Amino acid sequence: MEKHEKIYLAGHKGLVGSAIHRILVKEGFTNIVTRTSSELDLCNQASVEEFFRTEKPDYVILAAAKVGGIMANSTYPAEFIYKNIMIAANVIDASYRYGVKKLLNLGSSCIYPRMAPQPMKEDCLMTSELEKTNEAYALAKISAIKLCKYYNQQYGTNFISVMPTNQYGIGDNFNMETAHLLPMILRRFHLAKLLRNGQTEEIKKDLKRYKLGWGLDEKLRDDNIEEILGEIGAYKDKVVLWGDGSVYREMMCSDDLADACYYLMQNKDYDEIGELVNITKGDDIQLKDLFEIVKRIVGFEGEIVYDKTKPNGTPRKMMDATKIKALGWTPKIDLEQGIKDFYDWYCSL
Ligand SMILES: NC(=O)c1ccc[n+]([C@@H]2O[C@H](COP(=O)([O-])OP(=O)(O)OC[C@H]3O[C@@H](n4cnc5c(N)ncnc54)[C@H](OP(=O)(O)O)[C@@H]3O)[C@@H](O)[C@H]2O)c1
Repeated sequence: MEKHEKIYLAGHKGLVGSAIHRILVKEGFTNIVTRTSSELDLCNQASVEEFFRTEKPDYVILAAAKVGGIMANSTYPAEFIYKNIMIAANVIDASYRYGVKKLLNLGSSCIYPRMAPQPMKEDCLMTSELEKTNEAYALAKISAIKLCKYYNQQYGTNFISVMPTNQYGIGDNFNMETAHLLPMILRRFHLAKLLRNGQTEEIKKDLKRYKLGWGLDEKLRDDNIEEILGEIGAYKDKVVLWGDGSVYREMMCSDDLADACYYLMQNKDYDEIGELVNITKGDDIQLKDLFEIVKRIVGFEGEIVYDKTKPNGTPRKMMDATKIKALGWTPKIDLEQGIKDFYDWYCSL
């Protein structure tokens, strides 16, 4: 990509898209085209057609998707499969018809089978059953990978697909009902620290900025803050966490993912990458170690208590990094430094 060429970044306001936007700006790209979902609904074929006809982008980065946690995925499966198939089909087909030079399609690790051998390699795609709770989302994401593959095969396009591991970073979601693990834990320790230090005004500011979810915001009053925070596991003297901390998870800073996407857009084409490539550091961390790191970074001086009546989740879910390393990309952001920067950003809001 040359600095003046037109790049359509779909989903620029999201966690992943905003990180890609930051790196493009930092690298000096001056012709980045963006639209919010209210300006351009990518599910609407006619609108997508009109947009590509008018804008004729040289490159496309597809970071727009209808995403959500287990709860949203299992409650609204029709919405997840319909919207994600429509977004992918409309953008990928228009990119072919309007001569886009290269497209990067963002997928997710949930495309791999539920019982995939660990660490999960790219070639375990479609080798056995998917996890039921997000099957609809995963099928839409698999369709997007296959769309890219078959357009490349039939039309000679250069559409690449990347499968990133769990992300955290600037612009993350801190609603305790829908947040991913790291922002949820970080906020829980942060609120417990403020309680311990008696920083009530700071707590109120935090509760105004982000919803707690679980119907707690509606119950919140000035005289029951401590009780409500207890409902999310944040106390003056302890933070309560689900399970026993024995399972392992991977975490990647969205700026690292953006760096990998940029590297692949600039250096590697479909013929070298193949159908898909994992974006992962190839290492994970036991949750009890992760929790200790977050506790230290936040500066909470109480205890960590495990609620062992609650489930641990899958023992390990890790992606294999052999292929992305062989393609020449290496991660740059160390987990501890990444969490520290993430917390500094959270506190600066
Ligand atoms: N976050 C992770 O941990 C993670 C991990 C692996 C892979 N990924 C993948 O990365 C991609 C982006 O995820 P994310 O976490 O950045 O999601 P996100 O924060 O929820 O952002 C999604 C973006 O998609 C846009 N969008 C949604 N529906 C749209 C529509 N109908 N038309 C146009 N734009 C629409 C939204 O635009 P508006 O804000 O304007 O509504 C938003 O900018 C997804 O494919 C996801 O599977 C994410």
